[in-house]
Amino acid sequence: MTISDDARRAAEAVNGERLWTRLMRMAEFGARTDGGVDRPCLSAVDQAARTELIGWAEARGYQVSVDRAANLFIRREGRGNGPAILTGSHMDSQPKGGRFDGIGGVLGGLEALDAITEAGLETERAIEVVAFTNEEGGRFSPGCTGSMSWSGARDATSFDDIVDENGVRYADALNETISKAPQLATRPLGGAPAAYVELHIEQGPVLEKKGLEIAAVTGIQGVRWYGMEISGETAHAGTTPLALRRDAVQAAHRAIAALNTLMADPEDVIRFTVGRIEVEPNSPNTVADKVRFTIDFRHPDRTVLEERGSAIEEVVKEAAAPCEAVITPSLFSDPAHFPEPIVATIEQAAHALDFGVMRLPSGAFHDALFASQICPTAMIFVPCRNGISHHPDEYASPEHMEAGTRVLAATLVDLANGNATV
Ligand code: HGY
Ligand code: MN
Ligand code: MN
Repeated sequence: MTISDDARRAAEAVNGERLWTRLMRMAEFGARTDGGVDRPCLSAVDQAARTELIGWAEARGYQVSVDRAANLFIRREGRGNGPAILTGSHMDSQPKGGRFDGIGGVLGGLEALDAITEAGLETERAIEVVAFTNEEGGRFSPGCTGSMSWSGARDATSFDDIVDENGVRYADALNETISKAPQLATRPLGGAPAAYVELHIEQGPVLEKKGLEIAAVTGIQGVRWYGMEISGETAHAGTTPLALRRDAVQAAHRAIAALNTLMADPEDVIRFTVGRIEVEPNSPNTVADKVRFTIDFRHPDRTVLEERGSAIEEVVKEAAAPCEAVITPSLFSDPAHFPEPIVATIEQAAHALDFGVMRLPSGAFHDALFASQICPTAMIFVPCRNGISHHPDEYASPEHMEAGTRVLAATLVDLANGNATV
């Protein structure tokens, strides 16, 4: 099966230069001196980036709307009034993030809309581009609160009281951000699209190693995030015998060592990360009475997630004694498997446009993880240099960003016109 003439015309109308110019402009919002980006969700730089995106969309006459989770939607109307085809990703970045993670999918989607418009095409279904709020979870944890609220995976209000390191409530940051664009129409959460396709950098080395431009992503591994809080007792570092201490740092050390044993995997498939540790009172000459740390645990097999995940609480409590340990799950998702027909649609579009393509599962999670719970979902990966991501050196070439966007534009048109199966 190949792509339709309209799909090909849309793909050929993609303007790689305009896409690259927009990508580099967006990288200025939260630019770091080392070439990376630090754009925390709902921060002033994120709000400024959103204002820029809204300006580009409004200048093209697309309808821009926002839901109560501050998810931003850019809509290009179709002839019919059924559910739209949705594409997009996120605009927030890691603290030492790159210029392509997330924003590449939002701007690839906008470029696809512009290409479809410039090719003079009408589509049966509307096509929408979404910028989901807080995919990364750096400022407000967990990640994907925007797409979880939108998909109904979690009740949106359950995130309202999350606070950042300065005590700012998530709900207040949402409302402040929404108030920055009072001209936008508001829309209810939800509204399952007919399909969702997300363009993203691979964040791994496979495509580059194989010299291929495109991956038709087959699914996303499961993920579990936990917050750990270890409580002991402050004491004088010079006078308190070790035998009498309830040292939260030593307890956290024992707990992390025990978790490393639990998560040991000779095949190196398990992904287990302690990425954040906070100590109180954080003073060199006072024994710590509080340590909070995070766990990010992932695996493609649901049973491994279940088995090892269900053992975490006991392992940590035992290792931390005589300090207390409180474990709070914050992000849970089973692995997602994308439906064969829509994965094949991506593959065929890449073939039809003469791009090298392979199938690949995603080690990183994406908003597509939650979209896949409510509609047929697929992802398009493009290579990133040395597989680096969540790092200032993250880089995708203009050619690869253009290739991914051409495949996206063709896919969106055929999905919107019912020429592709989902
Ligand atoms: O953590 C992830 O997998 C995603 O890049 N936020
Ligand atoms: Mn991402
Ligand atoms: Mn990321």
